[in-house]
Amino acid sequence: MGGRPLKGRISISGAKNSALPCMAAAILTPEKVTLHNIPYVRDIITQRRLLEDIGATVLTPELRTHQITASHIEIFEAPYELVKTMRASVLALGPLLARFGKAKVSLPGGCAIGTRPIDLHLSGFEQLGAEVGLEAGDVLARAPHGGRLRGAEINFAKVTVTGTENLMMAATLARGKTILNNAACEPEISDLAELLNKMGARVRGAGTARIEIEGVEALGGAEHTIIPDRIETGTFIVAAAITRGDLEIRDCRPEHLAALVAKLREAGVALEELNQSTLRVSGDHHIKATDVITEPHPGFPTDMQAQYMTLMTQANGRTAIAETVFENRFMHVSELQRMGARIHIDGHSASVDGPVRLTGARVLASDLRASASLVLAGLVAEGETSIQRVYHIDRGYERIEAKLRAVGADIERIRESVSATLSASLEGDAAIA
Ligand code: UD1
Repeated sequence: MGGRPLKGRISISGAKNSALPCMAAAILTPEKVTLHNIPYVRDIITQRRLLEDIGATVLTPELRTHQITASHIEIFEAPYELVKTMRASVLALGPLLARFGKAKVSLPGGCAIGTRPIDLHLSGFEQLGAEVGLEAGDVLARAPHGGRLRGAEINFAKVTVTGTENLMMAATLARGKTILNNAACEPEISDLAELLNKMGARVRGAGTARIEIEGVEALGGAEHTIIPDRIETGTFIVAAAITRGDLEIRDCRPEHLAALVAKLREAGVALEELNQSTLRVSGDHHIKATDVITEPHPGFPTDMQAQYMTLMTQANGRTAIAETVFENRFMHVSELQRMGARIHIDGHSASVDGPVRLTGARVLASDLRASASLVLAGLVAEGETSIQRVYHIDRGYERIEAKLRAVGADIERIRESVSATLSASLEGDAAIA
């Protein structure tokens, strides 16, 4: 039931998009890698399953801590069942190829590799000397003679986050120096680099468009705490603003959200940085229609586009929202329209007319961030909104309904999804460990 202003304190979980590559990085060493602040969301279970499937041991001595030991890797593959549910499973490729000299990934269909959405990863591996080919419908990569990749200068044709991470991990064990140009600059890249350096890697420049990696002979164990999730933070900022509430958002890193914070301030949202890890959002101001273009970091994140669009349905005037990172990322629009939003799509841009009174409806979640935008719409809509396929939300948000309910939202989970199973399984593991 929408309409209640959110008030109180909310805590941010660890960043899923940092935890996923950091978990994959554990494949680079036979020693133990301990990761703290792992969020319990569905993509993390998938990544954990991948690690266990290939032979790694994953223990969870505490709820948010994973201890990964990849001393007995038996399979060098990211299997189809996992890749199709989570694209980030391809992050296993770089580490497998670097340490064992071979890696395989199953891709759906059988078209040319060049048209695949991981073409930039694969061509990067080739530039590090790997031979990449198709074998029975799978992509197989092999390091050159002697089993070790060799450093190279790689110019990414397009900014790719997981592509940069995959190549950065692969290069840590390569012979010689690798330079990544036009690298992604997301905070998750810097977080991964920090872990890799703790493991003994020599990575410099992460967080800028040019990353240099001096290859080393071997990597060792390390302990690392994952950064807070900037997209979860952004989603809760919008939740406070759209309900005209007053929220204190804790355990976050405002400096990772500069573009979003600037845009929301421009739109009239009152945001105050109480300290380095706490933001206060008060939404008792009128929201102004403010155009936005999504871009790679440090630009406005595509992962906040859907949530921002929901906010703009409540703004005064017409907002133009341009999506430049992904094709076809307006799947939430038809559902928002069913709730009364006035949105028009023209190619890569959407124009939103506001303010409109949204009304509750039965809506369908289509992907992770689209489903977050529907939750936000439900928070402000008149009457009841029922969201189907919430497993999309559980991929990346830790118990979103519990966090929102604790600050006054009228929201409940009707049917259990996977996060419950996850916390149960983590607790189970904690008891064994
Ligand atoms: C990551 C994030 C995701 C976010 C996205 C963009 C993770 C686990 N996921 O996804 O939440 O929305 O960054 O910020 O970190 N592309 C190619 N060929 C490639 C690779 C990418 O054409 O080999 C294209 C993609 O289709 C897309 C664009 O490049 O249009 C950016 O994609 P990319 O940065 O690679 O996204 P992910 O790393 O998959």
